[in-house]
Amino acid sequence: MAYLLFKYASISAAVLVGLYAGLLGLLTTSSFQAHVVYLHKIQMTWFKDLDVPESFGFLRSQTTPFSIKSSTGGTLYAWHILPIELYRHHEPALLTEPSGFASDITSRFAFKLLRDDPDARLIIHMHGAGGTVGSGYRVPNYRALSAGQPNKIHVLTFDYRGFGRSRGTPSERGLCIDAIAVVDWATKVAGIPPSRILIFSQSLGTAVSLAISEHFALQSPPTVFAGAILVAPFVDAQTLVATYRIAGSIPIISPLARFPLLFNYLQTFIKDKWLSKDRIAGYIRANEAIGEKYRLTLIHAEDDYDVPSHHTEVVFWHAVNATVPRGITYDELEEVKYKSKKDLGAAGSVMEWRTKNGVIREEMLKTGLHDVIMGNPVITMAVMRIFEAADPSFK
Ligand SMILES: *[C@@H]1O[C@H](CO)[C@@H](O)[C@H](O)[C@H]1NC(C)=O
Repeated sequence: MAYLLFKYASISAAVLVGLYAGLLGLLTTSSFQAHVVYLHKIQMTWFKDLDVPESFGFLRSQTTPFSIKSSTGGTLYAWHILPIELYRHHEPALLTEPSGFASDITSRFAFKLLRDDPDARLIIHMHGAGGTVGSGYRVPNYRALSAGQPNKIHVLTFDYRGFGRSRGTPSERGLCIDAIAVVDWATKVAGIPPSRILIFSQSLGTAVSLAISEHFALQSPPTVFAGAILVAPFVDAQTLVATYRIAGSIPIISPLARFPLLFNYLQTFIKDKWLSKDRIAGYIRANEAIGEKYRLTLIHAEDDYDVPSHHTEVVFWHAVNATVPRGITYDELEEVKYKSKKDLGAAGSVMEWRTKNGVIREEMLKTGLHDVIMGNPVITMAVMRIFEAADPSFK
């Protein structure tokens, strides 16, 4: 009996190990890897029509679905979302507007409210892996983003290639090209100067945001946005994969960390590196070198079990290090933090690093998980803090 039990147990263990090895093998193929990294086929809004934003809780014609051309030929599916007070002031006119997908958004009244207001602010939203513009906590997120000035703050959100209705296959290069196309649409078609644009991003989106922020900072002349908010950023793809757990509990390759040779070998297959730690440093060095003002806020909840909050501490360190000519070690920065961070009790803590040109702010929340945090008032505060710093008349 004991023998039989032992036998079956070892057979099933062997099967599990076999399945796991098979999964790891699959992970080394690039198309399967794209699915695991970007989760773009997991839409989570399967039974809803993105062209009917009302079904996601918006008012009639509050949100305009439209598309933006990417420079590589594809089209990106996007939403322009009106803030609530602005909507209220123009409700009668908006109710007579057509609703649904706009093949020419420039003809829509909502678009004109954005383009023709010299005080309008625009938040370009870069979402995380999986889903679409309408999934999960993204809709409450849009509300939190404009809540501080609901007459002025518009949101522009889009699906990268391969997500939702945007055709194609995601890749690091492709997502960056897409994000640049969206920024170009905002500055050229909607005519909003970068000084009135804030980039908000979460999770995978933070890597896209940093890549394009560095890109724009290195142009001559540089394109300088009002600021950027990064929620749950990660150090780079390799470090993320090493610490990532599916639904917070099933580690994918971290168990292999005990076998460094195999672990390192598998890591060399990770095609898209997403080197956020280097990009944030590059972005800050570029701004410091030319004396441009910059404002960066990193936010992470300590109970985030998808992307551990330690990632933000490391990203913050790389950012700060880029402002110190001789560099600063992680431990040195920890000492500075210990003395000067603001303890907010159950709300967490805040650390600000200021230079002549910039502010790098790290907010560590006690609670908020990976997604829920996006709809919380800390997001509204972070937005207002940046817009007001960029233009003190905007209160
Ligand atoms: C920190 O900054 C110094 C000085 O610029 C640089 O030499 C060093 O490589 C940086 N450290 C990291 C970990 O990037």
